Amino acid sequence: MNARISHDRHPDVPEEFPEIQRALLDWYRANARDLPWRHTRDPYRILVSEVMLQQTQVDRVIPRYHSFLERFPTAEALAGAPTADVIREWAGLGYNRRAVNLQRAAKAVVDEYGGEFPSDVATLKSLPGIGPYTAGAIACFALEQDVGFLDTNIRRVLHRLFVGPEVPEQSRNQRQMESLATSVVPAGNGWEWGQTLIEFGALQCTARNPACLTCPVQDRCRSFPQIQTVLAELGRNGFRRKQEAPFEGSNRFYRGRVLRALQESPHDTDGLNLDLLGSRVRDDYTRSHEPWLRDVIDGLARDGLVEIAEERDPYDSGPSNRVRLPGTVSHHRPESD
Ligand code: ADE
Repeated sequence: MNARISHDRHPDVPEEFPEIQRALLDWYRANARDLPWRHTRDPYRILVSEVMLQQTQVDRVIPRYHSFLERFPTAEALAGAPTADVIREWAGLGYNRRAVNLQRAAKAVVDEYGGEFPSDVATLKSLPGIGPYTAGAIACFALEQDVGFLDTNIRRVLHRLFVGPEVPEQSRNQRQMESLATSVVPAGNGWEWGQTLIEFGALQCTARNPACLTCPVQDRCRSFPQIQTVLAELGRNGFRRKQEAPFEGSNRFYRGRVLRALQESPHDTDGLNLDLLGSRVRDDYTRSHEPWLRDVIDGLARDGLVEIAEERDPYDSGPSNRVRLPGTVSHHRPESD
């Protein structure tokens, strides 16, 4: 995957491919949204945008992309910040592990590469928290390399266009799709092609309701017209449910509540003790819930999202656990033994 383009035509790519490519690029020029990350080639900014876009809608990402970059304008700034500040800045975007992983990637760029992003996909992929998609996106959108890469949307567009509807009977495997993605990148125009596939998947060839009737490549698409019947059938049988807010009472729901309580606690406090945290997380909290709360917190700590400090409370004789965002400066001095 992400190999350079080859000049042999891929078995799924029809002879009239250049016309399809041209029609899609023309569509992009006429329909593309003006998105802030399309005005930069800074790999750090592209990384931030791609990580934010992983589970969050474009409209919600735009203001947060600007505020995040104002606060952490470079990989150095992000790498050097207390993790607590990064998690606070991430508040409301959800999937907070992304914030921790983003900082890990920035630290690796600073510590291992002197602050300069590596310029090849394989090395980008070796950075913590950067998978094949993000590595490809950085190579394409920051470094303007002619690389092919896949996320679910790009995969859907290419599959529909060159293979057929994504149904089990005719689905290509990941390796086949990766090689297809690589083989359709126009030489010298990888940046625009990558944006085109993403935009086309977001606006025209959407998962549930593709606008086939106004599609510029309708007559060359391997899925038209049966895609509408396939989708109607899938609709009747119930689509796989979209990512929803975590079900109230689930572990993910309470992880979110714990983190929110810590994000909302003042910067200059040294975290929250278990009783206070518990009462912020559920109205019916009592000490009998403590083992359960510790489990939730342990999970967050394993993901690098919180720290648990065992300290002696100066007003109390016993040890007390305080939970805080990682890297928060300690104001309580643990008593020496
Ligand atoms: N989602 C992921 N990357 C994107 C991009 N470059 N533009 C719009 N949406 C995206």
